[in-house]
Amino acid sequence: MGHGIRIAPSLLSADFARLGEEVRAVIAAGADLIHFDVMDNHYVPNLTVGPLVCQAIKPHAVSGNKPVPIDVHLMVKPVDALIPMFAQAGAAIISFHHEASEHVDRSIQLIRSLGVKAGLVLNPATPLNVLDHVIEQLDLVLLMSVNPGFGGQGFIESTLPKLEKARRLVDAAMKNSGREIWLEVDGGVKRDNARRVAEAGADTLVAGSAVFTGARNTAAYAEAIAGIRDEALAGQQRLAMETV
Ligand code: DX5
Ligand code: ZN
Repeated sequence: MGHGIRIAPSLLSADFARLGEEVRAVIAAGADLIHFDVMDNHYVPNLTVGPLVCQAIKPHAVSGNKPVPIDVHLMVKPVDALIPMFAQAGAAIISFHHEASEHVDRSIQLIRSLGVKAGLVLNPATPLNVLDHVIEQLDLVLLMSVNPGFGGQGFIESTLPKLEKARRLVDAAMKNSGREIWLEVDGGVKRDNARRVAEAGADTLVAGSAVFTGARNTAAYAEAIAGIRDEALAGQQRLAMETV
């Protein structure tokens, strides 16, 4: 075991008037990925940003000369037309919701054909069996721990046993395919629950309101990210001990 922990601050809670600076600040504060929430006021009842904004933040998503991956979370329906646009705009990962694509396998193939990592997102009420037949083609499985659409919602506790089951499916698929698959959780993640989330099997934690907080500067973001990471690493260690 021991997957390491990745922290993906969600820009949904950043200051949209200073998005480039916010991206640089969370990266300086230790972000491993930049989580980019795309909402269409159709699949979810909110409206955010599109490929133009992804392209605009791309030059800011760097650590030294190294690009920091932009983790695009599509909450849009349909999904296929936007996939090439986000690939062109510099997305490293594109995830979409099972319910938002008429042909899930086709959407996954489309993302991969563009050289981008593919993720499938499961809502709180979406069963894990939607992963059957496609998991070995995925780079990321994303379990929503809130209903998509808004930042700052409370963590849905039933995500924890679901994560445990998903961890087993992801481990089996990685063993079969020899490919790496990340298990991400999104919604209501904070310092208080990061240990339990990682102990349940998540290796990639999205956090919006829990990171963009306090004095809203690099020091505040660094403290928030370190707090979440430390808790998550402790949870991951416990998981490793349980599964020896
Ligand atoms: C919700 C978004 C999340 C959101 C998380 O639909 O997908 O990424 O920004 O925000 P917090 O961490 O505040 O729940
Ligand atoms: Zn998200």
